[in-house]
Amino acid sequence: MRIPRTSARAISFFGPFGITVLGGVLGAASGQAPQTNTPPAATSLPASVQQEISKVESEIDRIEAQTLARSRHAPPDPAPRMVLLGKLLMYDKHLSVNRNEACAFCHMPETGFTGAISELNATTVAYPGSVRWRFSQRKPQSHAYAPFAPALHYNVGQGDFVGGNFWDMRATGLRLDNPAAEQAQAPPLNPVEMGLPDAACAVYRLSARPYRWLFEAVWGKQAFAINWPADVETICDTPAPAASSDPLPVHLSEVDRGTAQRTFDAMALSMAGYERSPEVSPFSSKFDAVMGHAAKFTPEEQSGYDLFRGKGRCNECHRDGGPGEEPLFTDFTASNLGTPANRAMPYYGEGAADQHGYVANPEGLGFIDTGVGGFLAWAHALSGQPNPDPDWTPYAAKFKGRFRVPTLRNVDKRPY
Ligand code: HEC
Ligand code: HEC
Repeated sequence: MRIPRTSARAISFFGPFGITVLGGVLGAASGQAPQTNTPPAATSLPASVQQEISKVESEIDRIEAQTLARSRHAPPDPAPRMVLLGKLLMYDKHLSVNRNEACAFCHMPETGFTGAISELNATTVAYPGSVRWRFSQRKPQSHAYAPFAPALHYNVGQGDFVGGNFWDMRATGLRLDNPAAEQAQAPPLNPVEMGLPDAACAVYRLSARPYRWLFEAVWGKQAFAINWPADVETICDTPAPAASSDPLPVHLSEVDRGTAQRTFDAMALSMAGYERSPEVSPFSSKFDAVMGHAAKFTPEEQSGYDLFRGKGRCNECHRDGGPGEEPLFTDFTASNLGTPANRAMPYYGEGAADQHGYVANPEGLGFIDTGVGGFLAWAHALSGQPNPDPDWTPYAAKFKGRFRVPTLRNVDKRPY
């Protein structure tokens, strides 16, 4: 696997910088008695990480500017327009509370649409949010080929869950019939990712973007026909989560709330449309060419493939196609591989209230990521919808510790 699960390097990474947010993690990683619930006090990351972050940020700005220029000559057909809109949305940092984190921040093209910050990949595995000292509990998946996942369902014959997005399948796709679209609604509102306190904030921010005309051209003029309260700016500049006494802090009329939700759906569907498009999911690898009899494996590649399908049995989960089936290198089920917890992840140190009074991980070092079982039992999720089907709840124990089989496409791409 590309990313070490137990990272000895984490010690040398954080050690010299004395980052207190990671104090508890450091204790655990270096084999000392684990400190519990070290208060996150750091507001800055090591200079070397900051440098890599700046590089990724300016690359995102460059791609956004280039895409904006292209959008001025947007094709008249709604489908390609939606794809272009989806790309603009995914490179737009204004969808995050501090206007510093686009989706692409954790999903860059040069690494096959997962994170491109090498030092983080080698150490923290997870990525910082718009509030920079908040890290999530998981590694960014690639979003390429994600829209090819079916909506989550329980296959009675196989006794298995199939489909959905996210490591724990919780973006089911049941509401929009599109798991990738429902996935795209989670990061903007996740306190440890893009951190907006209300879906209406995403809509409000979009209404002021230079590509608003394209959004309206694809989805209709009603998209932003909303009466905004006077305090909307202040509220949307306040990091999530909203107070539990006021979970939708942008106070809208019922009709405006409905419009905002539909526009938020349209945003998500556009993003999923871009993820599905040939620019992100092109089926143009050497493997595809070999399957199309347009290229040949080298002898080394051939023996790797034979192992993959033979003795290695990799294709039992990372399906490489079959009759009527495209090779996506996943069967959209979930497995428990027995991989141990990686105590070097900063999430374990996020057990106390941060500067905004938010506790990301109330369990501290006691946190265990239970994957699909956690979703079915509705525990531990930082974002997304709860288990929508009470009939699924009894399976929680059986699916504890299982994680979605990821696609292996682009898995070994590196920025440099
Ligand atoms: C701070 C980093 C970060 C940002 C920003 C981010 N993601 Fe992700 N992404 C992740 C992580 C981590 C996961 C896995 C999370 C989980 O399983 O709970 C993920 C998972 C996904 C998946 C699921 C892939 C699959 O096969 O199931 C898709 C699709 C995706 N992200 C797209 C997006 C989109 C669209 C946005 C912007 C709206 C976005 N991401 C913003 C880190 C990020
Ligand atoms: C029983 C099903 C199963 C089999 C068999 C299997 N895998 Fe996996 N694989 C998974 C799951 C599930 C994950 C994600 C696990 C996690 O994150 O804890 C994974 C993760 C991976 C990753 C990391 C991908 C990423 O995005 O970080 C690679 C690479 C990989 N597998 C390659 C292989 C190879 C090569 C083989 C054969 C030797 C193989 N797998 C056999 C289920 C399987």
